[in-house]
Amino acid sequence: MKRTKIKDILKNDATDYQVNVKGWVRSFRNNQFIALNDGSCMANIQVVIELGADDALLKRITTGASVNVDGTVVASLGKGQKVEVKAQSVTILGDCDNEQYPLQPKNKPSLEYLREIAHLRFRTNTFGAIFRVRHSLAYAVHKFYNDRGFVYLHTPIVTASDAEGAGEMFRVSTLPFDNPPRNEDGTVDFKEDFFGRCTNLTVSGQLEAELGAMAFSEVYTFGPTFRAENSNTARHLAEFWMIEPEVAFNDINDNMDLAEDFIQYLIAYVMEHNREDIDFLAQRLADEEKQKPMNERSELGLVEKLEFVVNNKFERITYTEAIDILLNSAHYKKKKFQYDVSWGIDLQSEHERYLVEKHFKKPVIVTGYPKDIKAFYMRQNDDGKTVAAMDILAPGIGEIVGGSQREERLDKLTQRMNEMYIPTDEMYWYLDTRRFGTVPHAGFGLGFERMVLFVTGMGNIRDVIPFPRTPKNAEF
Ligand code: 4AD
Ligand code: MG
Repeated sequence: MKRTKIKDILKNDATDYQVNVKGWVRSFRNNQFIALNDGSCMANIQVVIELGADDALLKRITTGASVNVDGTVVASLGKGQKVEVKAQSVTILGDCDNEQYPLQPKNKPSLEYLREIAHLRFRTNTFGAIFRVRHSLAYAVHKFYNDRGFVYLHTPIVTASDAEGAGEMFRVSTLPFDNPPRNEDGTVDFKEDFFGRCTNLTVSGQLEAELGAMAFSEVYTFGPTFRAENSNTARHLAEFWMIEPEVAFNDINDNMDLAEDFIQYLIAYVMEHNREDIDFLAQRLADEEKQKPMNERSELGLVEKLEFVVNNKFERITYTEAIDILLNSAHYKKKKFQYDVSWGIDLQSEHERYLVEKHFKKPVIVTGYPKDIKAFYMRQNDDGKTVAAMDILAPGIGEIVGGSQREERLDKLTQRMNEMYIPTDEMYWYLDTRRFGTVPHAGFGLGFERMVLFVTGMGNIRDVIPFPRTPKNAEF
């Protein structure tokens, strides 16, 4: 008989039909009731074993074991479920050594501990919910852009360019570490390397996406990106996923509209399609909040927060206005910021969080940053000081989107690249788009894990990617 997913059995109240179910035992009570989970949904199905079943079999039905059940779906007499499976036959697919198995129903493992057993944590309710939501968000990303006629462009993972001009990349090489070929001046001779040049893992697909936008008008890329910055925070990964749309003929305002629509769409999508998981995560967060002192608790629950973001326009301010707000805040006057505030600084996460969590209490889009703290490709404003950058700041997260209108004027772009020591000869392929039919265009990058953090209400980015890569950590 073909296997039926537990989700499909629980979805309707139909009874008196034969099923085959397979899954992992979450708990086994009174030698009779199995709570069985197959990951298709949060809920377990109750499997009832006839009294007097073979003792040897009963002993092998332990938490974590995998089983195959043939039985009949019947109305449940017990509380908590409408239907259950009355088993005709139960066979063990894989035994589970219960002395060793770390996920016992009685003790509630901490998130930190579960991170150490990331290969098993999918089997908990919390991580089941997180990764079903993550999947839905990824699907919704593609649906959003597909519905709007964007072309999904696969940009390269291995690259010879440093898109953000930031350094801090992971090198890709097949040269021997201990004895690389060298030039006469002692530097490594990358002409001998696999690609005949120095290559790295990409930090962003933007520059290549721009090339696509110059032909398809609307493209997006959604792939892994890598940053070797040593930021050991709850918001940074060394390997993370980013969605980067790039749109010809869009200016900075169109760019903001697209980003805002996109974020609201993603949230609305999971609210509609993953309600059981979101409700579970909301309860988890509410329980966690109760442990905090009154004045540190958030005002809105997870569901209220998500509904609020879907239903309210984001605040739009300039960088200069943001600095003024910070300088005029009581927080600043009482010297509560760790980092000083003045026009020209890169906003620190404490500043960003003040703006969204204390001042506006909603997502904020900040535009017009000083050109000296932003990348070379951002369009220069007429004031000579700022660029058409935009960052979106989200409550509890800080920066979730970074983007800009791009500098489409060849002379301005090369001038800025020269000022920032970016080799224009090596970047001829990028500059060619400005030589051959340049157009105004704009795009942004949404950090996918930061989006998953926001939607799930989790506090640490390591808990929303299946296998986190952070400094000194690449297990599994
Ligand atoms: O602001 P960033 O660096 O922008 C870019 O890479 C542009 N090329 C995007 C574009 O315009 N196409 O990164 C974009 C977003 C950030 O706002 C943040 O959400 C996320 O990527 N991000 C990270 N997420 C997790 N770990 C890290 N180390 C991250 N660095 C950036
Ligand atoms: Mg940024």
